[in-house]
Amino acid sequence: MTMRQIRRLAINTGGGDCSGLNAVIRAVVLHACARGIEVLGVEDGLDGLLPNKPAVVRKLTPEEVRPLLAQGGTILGTSNRGDPFAYHGADGSVQDLSGALLVRARELGIELLITVGGDGSQAIGLKLQELGLPVIGVPKTIDNDLDATVETFGFGTAVQVATDALDRLRTTAESHDRIMLLEVMGRDAGWIALHTGMAGGADVILLPELAYEPAVVVRDLRRILGGGRRFALIVVAEGAQARSETDGGPRARGAKIHGGAAQRAADRIAALLPGVELRVTVLGHVQRGGTPTAYDRLLATRLGVEAVEAALRGESGVLVSSQPPDIRIVSLASAVARVRRVEPEAQIVGHARALGISFGDR
Ligand code: F6P
Repeated sequence: MTMRQIRRLAINTGGGDCSGLNAVIRAVVLHACARGIEVLGVEDGLDGLLPNKPAVVRKLTPEEVRPLLAQGGTILGTSNRGDPFAYHGADGSVQDLSGALLVRARELGIELLITVGGDGSQAIGLKLQELGLPVIGVPKTIDNDLDATVETFGFGTAVQVATDALDRLRTTAESHDRIMLLEVMGRDAGWIALHTGMAGGADVILLPELAYEPAVVVRDLRRILGGGRRFALIVVAEGAQARSETDGGPRARGAKIHGGAAQRAADRIAALLPGVELRVTVLGHVQRGGTPTAYDRLLATRLGVEAVEAALRGESGVLVSSQPPDIRIVSLASAVARVRRVEPEAQIVGHARALGISFGDR
C-alpha cells in the first residue's frame, strides 16, 4: 500500500528566540513547497491556533522565506508563556485551551505540526501528538542543554557574541587594571559560560553546576595577580551560585532565578580583596539576537530539511537530532527526558583546569 503524502503542514516557533529560527522556517518552506506541501505559519508560539488572540495562522511562501537565512529572531514570533494546556491569561487565570487548538488545526486542514523549540515546547508537542495531532520537533535552545541532540543552533552564535564581548572587556580591563566580570545566559546549564570562558581566555568561570567558594576564587585571583598580571577576567553563568546559596545540588530545571549572579560574585570578591577595582557587564539578550553564525545557519537549515524528510516518510512523534556528521531521528519523548548539564568531571572541564582556569570550587 502506498502512503498518501501530506498536503498541508504547519510550523511554529516556541520558547525564547535564538539566532537560526528563521533559517529553519526557510528550509522547511523551501523543501516542503518543492515537494508540493503547503506550509502554514503559526504566529506567536501556538497563539495563532488559539481563540481570541491577535496572532493568526498564515500561508508561508518560498518568496517570503528565501531572504531569511541570515536574519535573527523569528518571522512567526514566539512566546515562552503560551502553553495551550495551561494558558495564562492577562487576568491571571489559567485555562486548558488544547481542545480548541486541536479543533482549529483540524479546521485549517493541518495534517502535521513542525514545532521548533526547547524542552518546554517539545513537551507541549508530545502532548499534542498523544491527542492526535502529528508533531515533528526541531530542537532549539541557546543553552545547548537538550540531551537528545549533540548541539542546537543559536548556541554557537551566543558563544560568539559573548566571546567578542570578553575580547573587548580584556582590553579595557588591561588598561585600567581591573577585574571584569561578564554575566552570560545559562540558568540551569553553564555551557555558554564554559565555552565563552575557554574561547576568550577567562581566568575564572563560574557555573551553575559547580557551586563556588568566594575564598577559593579570591585565592586563585591572588595567584593570577601575584604573578605580575594586573587584570583578570571572570565569566559568570546567570545561574551560578556560591556554595552558601545552594542546598547541595543544582536547582530544579526552570526554577526561578534572581538576576545579578555576577554582581553578587563581584560583591563577595570585593569583600575579600580590598583595593581591587571590579566591574560587571551583563550581556543578557544580546546573546539571542542578530545574525546567526555560518555554522548555526547550516545546522538550522539541515534540521529543517530533515524535518520535512521525516514528514515525507510519514513519521511523527519524533525529533530531528544533530548527531554529526548526520541529522538523525529520535523520539520526541527523549527530547524532554533529561537536561544535559556540564558534568564536573567532563573532559572539557579538565581541559579548562589544565589551562589554569579556576571554577572557584577547589
Ligand atoms: O532558555 C533560554 C534562555 O535564554 C535562558 O538562558 C535565559 O535564562 C532565559 O531564556 C531568558 O528568558 P526571557 O527571554 O524570558 O528573559
